[in-house]
Amino acid sequence: MPRRTRYGHLRNGVRHRRFPESNKLSSAPTIKILDLPALHSGIRDRIMESIERVVDGGQYVMGEEVEAFEQELARFTGAKHAIGCGSGSDALSLSLQAADVGPGDEVLCPAFSFFSTASSIARLGAHPVFVDIHPQSLNMDLEATKEIVSECTRLKALLPVDLFGRVAQIDGFVNLGEEIGVPVIEDAAQAIGARDGELACAGTKARMGCISFYPSKNLGALGEGGAILTADEAVAERLRNLRTHGQSAPNHFTELGFNSRLDALQAAILRVKLQALPEWLRARKEVASYYDAKLSEAGALPWGSMLSQAELPLLYPPTPPKPAQSAHHQYTIQVLPEMRETLRSRLSQRGIETAIYYAVGLHEQPALAKHGRTPRPLTITDEATRSVMSLPCHPGINSDARSRVMTALVEEVKDLVQLIR
Ligand SMILES: Cc1ncc(COP(=O)(O)O)c(C=O)c1O
Repeated sequence: MPRRTRYGHLRNGVRHRRFPESNKLSSAPTIKILDLPALHSGIRDRIMESIERVVDGGQYVMGEEVEAFEQELARFTGAKHAIGCGSGSDALSLSLQAADVGPGDEVLCPAFSFFSTASSIARLGAHPVFVDIHPQSLNMDLEATKEIVSECTRLKALLPVDLFGRVAQIDGFVNLGEEIGVPVIEDAAQAIGARDGELACAGTKARMGCISFYPSKNLGALGEGGAILTADEAVAERLRNLRTHGQSAPNHFTELGFNSRLDALQAAILRVKLQALPEWLRARKEVASYYDAKLSEAGALPWGSMLSQAELPLLYPPTPPKPAQSAHHQYTIQVLPEMRETLRSRLSQRGIETAIYYAVGLHEQPALAKHGRTPRPLTITDEATRSVMSLPCHPGINSDARSRVMTALVEEVKDLVQLIR
């Protein structure tokens, strides 16, 4: 007999039903999940000036712009060192190599994340060992990690992710790492600007914290980019060598590194955008707080609750305990799996874009099949992959747009519930 999950759907698959389309089509402009040209319009002149400065300066890879950006990023995050590199994925690969992760080693990470959280481990010949997530944070579960740690024979690192801009239980992971003698590499790709319960910035407490500047991130380049934060002098020096092929002195290569240098153009643009980041984070928080209030008012409950107990069957992200702060990279709700696709299509008909991060767990990605290990069932991960959807939550969402999103969402969920019951 297939078992029912906490959300009421069958574990062995979602029953796909056909629902009628929305009867409230909209001709209003589409509310995009992200609108980068609109975001850039307020600082366009300064971006263009920075581009001209680089074009005229003649130094296009690394150099002064990259050094200045690294210093400004270190100041912003409170990190001792910030090392720019080619992407967030490279930041992970470089960090794993700096932690001496190699063939046959094991690294614990969540399966509810972007592909490169685990592919960076597998590319080094090591095994990503998948740990389930916690239902209230959707981040790697510390208690589940502790259980699995004792079963690993070649554990080399812990790799928690600050998913959707919410810092993982970093103190717990760092303590655990110290106890068992392995470093923590924090995938803070989505979390620049987030702070933990001691107001430390995401990525600053682990041995290495990895940031992505992919354009859609809270601090995005106009191309690829990434950085690693660390307080460890020796690690910082090794990372600087590794990002330039493993070169430790001119024409002297001490290990096999990567070509993963940050472009001067991206650094110059990121310097302009870093100045705007505090205001953008504030704007994201305002949208998220509005959504929280409206959804709670409509009878939804925070993540970790039972969907079946909510008056409106919808779960929204809980506010992290004060003084911790989310960076609100994604505003992700959970809905009944059997209504998710219809809900998305109805919202789209009403001019509201949504997205799904992530529809497939990394333990189920074909490319990772022979590399990854899944010692325990990933029950919460599997439920999340079937129920999550992200709403537009960025600085371009004005009061009109946010109210349109909430009105449409609540109306459509209520309507679909009537059809299911
Ligand atoms: C959680 C997570 N890890 C790693 C990455 C990789 O970053 P990048 O796209 O800059 O390589 C991303 C971004 O896409 C991410 O969201």
